[in-house]
Amino acid sequence: MTLPFEMKFLDASSLADLLELQSIVSANLPCPEIFILHEDEYFQEALRVDRSVLGVTAGEKLIAFSIIAIPGLSDENLGKDINLPKDELVNVAHLQAAAVHPGYRGNGLQRKLTFAHLHVISEIGYNHACCTVSPKNPVSLGNYLYCGLKIEWLCPKRNGWWRFILHKEILKENPLLREKSTDRRQSGMEDNLMAHRDENGIEIREIAISDIEGQLDLLSKGFKGFRISSHSDGLKLSYARF
Ligand SMILES: CC(C)(COP(=O)(O)OP(=O)(O)OC[C@H]1O[C@@H](n2cnc3c(N)ncnc32)[C@H](O)[C@@H]1OP(=O)(O)O)[C@@H](O)C(=O)NCCC(=O)NCCS
Repeated sequence: MTLPFEMKFLDASSLADLLELQSIVSANLPCPEIFILHEDEYFQEALRVDRSVLGVTAGEKLIAFSIIAIPGLSDENLGKDINLPKDELVNVAHLQAAAVHPGYRGNGLQRKLTFAHLHVISEIGYNHACCTVSPKNPVSLGNYLYCGLKIEWLCPKRNGWWRFILHKEILKENPLLREKSTDRRQSGMEDNLMAHRDENGIEIREIAISDIEGQLDLLSKGFKGFRISSHSDGLKLSYARF
């Protein structure tokens, strides 16, 4: 039986459901490094802020969530990692955590939650959405790229675990990029780093997701990551200058 999904903002009454879902998700992680677990207080605080926590229910059961947060000028502000101008840092919102119950994956729920929360971020007047994703988490990375965020930096974060820093400037919607960000399977690519131009003459570099050094080099030269694709020799990311 397929239950209808309902997306809604959560309040303090959902704390126990969120903690239970987090523990189910954490027990099913392929590698602990991809998902930082949060304490009760973190959820309590998030639930206090209007529209910060979005949930999806199937029947009465919570099966997915997304959390946003406003970092202010704290060191946590991811705008600092991507060198946003100082006066833009107050306009940064974080897409901070998202998870889907293992039994309900493959329904595009992370994308739906992310689009909904991007809309909230825009409505409450913030112009920059940022998040972090592990290079070992291609599903989540692909979903954020699909939603129009781009990889703008790569660095070790908490516990020394590598994280892509993704960013989307809300007011600068680019439909072309959205189209490009969808998964496209390609084969016959032998080199780790391929360069070619797309139909608009934009230089695109393709690089293995595991090639941290190569990506740091591209990022330091002003490239941004915008697409993930599957190849016979593994997952690759496409980078271009925008
Ligand atoms: C990342 C996550 C939220 C995505 O869930 P989702 O929205 O249901 O995923 P999607 O609907 O986009 O699924 C995309 C594809 O990946 C597959 N998939 C989703 N999660 C998967 C997983 N953990 N492992 C393997 N495949 C997975 C789906 O079956 C689907 O395949 P299809 O396109 O062939 O149908 C979910 O995997 C999750 O909760 N992971 C653990 C927590 C986490 O990593 N959070 C994000 C931290 S940045």
